[in-house]
Amino acid sequence: MSERVALVGSERGLRVDPDLPLAGTALRQAGYAVDLVRWDDSTVDWDAYDLAVVRSCWDYAWRLDEFLSWAGSVPRLRNTAEVLRWNTDKSYLRDLERVGLPVVPTVWDPVRGEELPDAAEWVVKPSVSAGSRDTARWSEPAAALAHVAQLVLAGRTAMLQPYLASVDDEGETAMLFIGGRFSHAVRKGPLLARGEGVRQDRDSRGDLTRARPTAAQREVAEAVFAAIGELVPGAAPLYARIDLVHDDAGRPVVLELELTEPSLFLPQVPEAASSLAGAVEAELSR
Ligand SMILES: Nc1ncnc2c1ncn2[C@@H]1O[C@H](COP(=O)(O)OP(=O)(O)O)[C@@H](O)[C@H]1O
Ligand SMILES: [Mg+2]
Repeated sequence: MSERVALVGSERGLRVDPDLPLAGTALRQAGYAVDLVRWDDSTVDWDAYDLAVVRSCWDYAWRLDEFLSWAGSVPRLRNTAEVLRWNTDKSYLRDLERVGLPVVPTVWDPVRGEELPDAAEWVVKPSVSAGSRDTARWSEPAAALAHVAQLVLAGRTAMLQPYLASVDDEGETAMLFIGGRFSHAVRKGPLLARGEGVRQDRDSRGDLTRARPTAAQREVAEAVFAAIGELVPGAAPLYARIDLVHDDAGRPVVLELELTEPSLFLPQVPEAASSLAGAVEAELSR
């Protein structure tokens, strides 16, 4: 009997994640029985799967405790519950910084104007979020601090960063790792428009094109990927996405490390679907 793999999403993720049909097909071609299942479906027997692969659980940010306790209960989950626990809060950026990796400079829960880094504009976002929800770009310090205060009052941790101007011209570069090695890069256009404030209806996919990373981007991404196993002992992520932007000095810095539900951009790079199937195969034959 063929081994069983679950591709796991939220209700909406399963309906609209464009990676899923391609991932499902590649896994079936590799001989697996594949089910698309909701993480919060209480009728699912997680024990029945040889591997459950978290893919598009797009609602976890609003149900974090529930999501992490679910993750802890699934016997063979990738990425692992330990990785998800560390990665679902962007305070992991502090850990990356501590081990010497270049990250977007971040001030946590700032209260006073003097705490704002020198910049023409700032970004404020909650530490637990996805799809640029509750995230905004401000050119007035008072407006940025008001946004921070609103998040903190709601019991969230707020992050304030300089708005890196390079994003307007070149967007961000997503560096995808599958099965432990670099797979491909995709450029994503800017998402935050000047003056729009907090919006809940952004199309967070942005404009996407396959990219050829620079040597400097490769180097930073490889170093970040290598650090994951150190920061989460024993972690060997099945998939990872490292979003890089350029700082004002033109150096690549980490905007986000996505180990929870990174889009793999399979429609843009279809051959990566077979890499994913290969990575699952390697995982199951360990
Ligand atoms: N410091 C920043 N400078 C420029 N753009 C930013 C910055 N932080 C976030 N953005 C924009 O907001 C989007 C969402 O922020 P991000 O940190 O990627 O969180 P998430 O994708 O988890 O919502 C990014 O894709 C980028 O377009
Ligand atoms: Mg992002």
